[in-house]
Amino acid sequence: MIIGSRYIFSENIDSTNAYAYRLLKQGPLPEGTVIHTNYQSGGKGQKGHSWESEDSKNLLFSIVLFPDEIPAEDQFIISMTISLGIYDFLKTFISDCRIKWPNDIYAGYDKIAGILIENSISGNKIESTIAGIGLNINQEEFLSNAPNPVSLRMLTGKSYAPDIMLHKLVVKLDIRYKQLLSGKHSKIRKEYIESLFRLNEWESYKTESGVFYGRIISVTDAGRLQIEDRNLNIQEFSFKEIDFRL
Ligand code: BTN
Repeated sequence: MIIGSRYIFSENIDSTNAYAYRLLKQGPLPEGTVIHTNYQSGGKGQKGHSWESEDSKNLLFSIVLFPDEIPAEDQFIISMTISLGIYDFLKTFISDCRIKWPNDIYAGYDKIAGILIENSISGNKIESTIAGIGLNINQEEFLSNAPNPVSLRMLTGKSYAPDIMLHKLVVKLDIRYKQLLSGKHSKIRKEYIESLFRLNEWESYKTESGVFYGRIISVTDAGRLQIEDRNLNIQEFSFKEIDFRL
């Protein structure tokens, strides 16, 4: 086992990603260390947003990785790998689960998990990766203005033991990470693309130049979203260049 080789628990913390970063600066950590908490006072989301999670209700953790064989320009494959691990886990509980590009996990039209990957790059090398995961398990009410949060409990009516769920999820993540390390990049890319929310569905998207209609057809190795428009032109977008209209 790589992911889950060591667990570090803190009852509450500012952010497991920030804590992992501080620990890494202090000295070496085994690859696959999982840093988890019950409560974050400053949980970080993508695009500078915060991450809401009620005390002891959900999974909040970060994984420390050293994917030094992956060139920096291929770093998106790490996002794909982590997304697929969460997707594999959730599929055992809910059928309608998808990966919303680049790395949100959706149940139907609602967001059940978010991932914040922070890589330290030196030259063309990834020195370390901190993969932070927030997965909503037992929370039933969300107070922030996040548009569409949902939890497993809201979907299934059942409550779950967070510690057991964390261990089961770590097993799925470890399987995917080992696929990555053994060079199964095409398999990971293919399965990631096949799991995408709205793949091949005609929908509207918002960009700086306005709203347009198109369908997601793929994601490039560099992680850019490819959308075919009505004129059959294929356009590519980075994360900050396009918004899904939900
Ligand atoms: C998103 O905006 O979708 C990403 C959310 C990532 C949240 C997790 S919770 C554990 C880890 N620590 C953080 O501060 N953020 C990530």
